[in-house]
Amino acid sequence: MRSLNSLLSCVLFPIIKPDFKQLEQHLQHKTIIITGASYGIGEALCHCLADINCQLILLARTESKLQQIQQLLINRKAQIEIFPIDLRDRVQLDRFINHIQHKPIDILINNAGISICRPIMHSLQREHDFERTMQLNYFAPVRLCLALIPTLQQTQGQIINVSAINVLLAPTVNWAAYQASKTAFDQWLRCASAELENQHIRVATAYLPLVKTRMIEPTRLYKQLPALRPQQAANIICRLLLKGKRQYKPWWTLAVQLISVLFNGIWLKMNYYYVKRKQC
Ligand SMILES: NC(=O)c1ccc[n+]([C@@H]2O[C@H](COP(=O)([O-])OP(=O)(O)OC[C@H]3O[C@@H](n4cnc5c(N)ncnc54)[C@H](OP(=O)(O)O)[C@@H]3O)[C@@H](O)[C@H]2O)c1
Repeated sequence: MRSLNSLLSCVLFPIIKPDFKQLEQHLQHKTIIITGASYGIGEALCHCLADINCQLILLARTESKLQQIQQLLINRKAQIEIFPIDLRDRVQLDRFINHIQHKPIDILINNAGISICRPIMHSLQREHDFERTMQLNYFAPVRLCLALIPTLQQTQGQIINVSAINVLLAPTVNWAAYQASKTAFDQWLRCASAELENQHIRVATAYLPLVKTRMIEPTRLYKQLPALRPQQAANIICRLLLKGKRQYKPWWTLAVQLISVLFNGIWLKMNYYYVKRKQC
């Protein structure tokens, strides 16, 4: 079973490696904000960029974990500044925006996120689930982008969004809060991208499939499915940092999108029977 899983992973997620020399040249002396840098994909990204002479500003709530990463990477080339923050908190976010107001930010990597997998029938008293996901996955990046656009305009910078492949596919039962919030910011950025590019701000999105991080740990089914390693996801983001790339999506995305349109009725029925079986 495990070897079948790794074979499937190799086929579904062939190894993507950025050209490190090119990346190093491109990012020299740049200032890069990474949200959600304390764990998972964000943490792996810090390790990827640590050998480049750039400045990394790392955001997340867990101060001790940010300090640990900073300490671990202290002898590498990148200068690391940490900023413990709950991105859902308007006051804390404004404080951060004030803090970076006069810094020449070149790149914003919007990576922080939370996911919630819960049936609507278990959410009737849990409106806060929908508020929490929207605050972090939608309003926080919108606020950060709005505040940073003038600086990014001056530095001819870049916004990278770490999104999920789910936003391009048919909706899935139990994922209303997560998918709605990820789709909201994806749509926002897609609507804004022409204007931003006109202001010489590049926009790129990583539509990631499953990644083995603590985010997917609570979902038992995901333990058996092939998934990217955080390092692979970080490599994908590094490739997007290089010029010319606007998005990453797995090579099989179009096929799955076609299937989800052509067999939408069957997909809906499968969702329906899944819910029914769970109720029994
Ligand atoms: N894992 C997957 O299968 C998968 C697939 C597609 C896309 N993605 C996307 O990839 C991104 C990274 O997720 P991951 O898999 O690396 O998950 P993760 O390991 O749980 O990391 C999430 C990061 O977001 C930070 N964060 C969470 N709530 C925050 C808050 N209120 N304020 C500030 N930072 C906060 C966390 O740090 P603290 O807890 O220290 O705050 C952590 O650094 C997310 O946007 C997710 O939607 C993940």
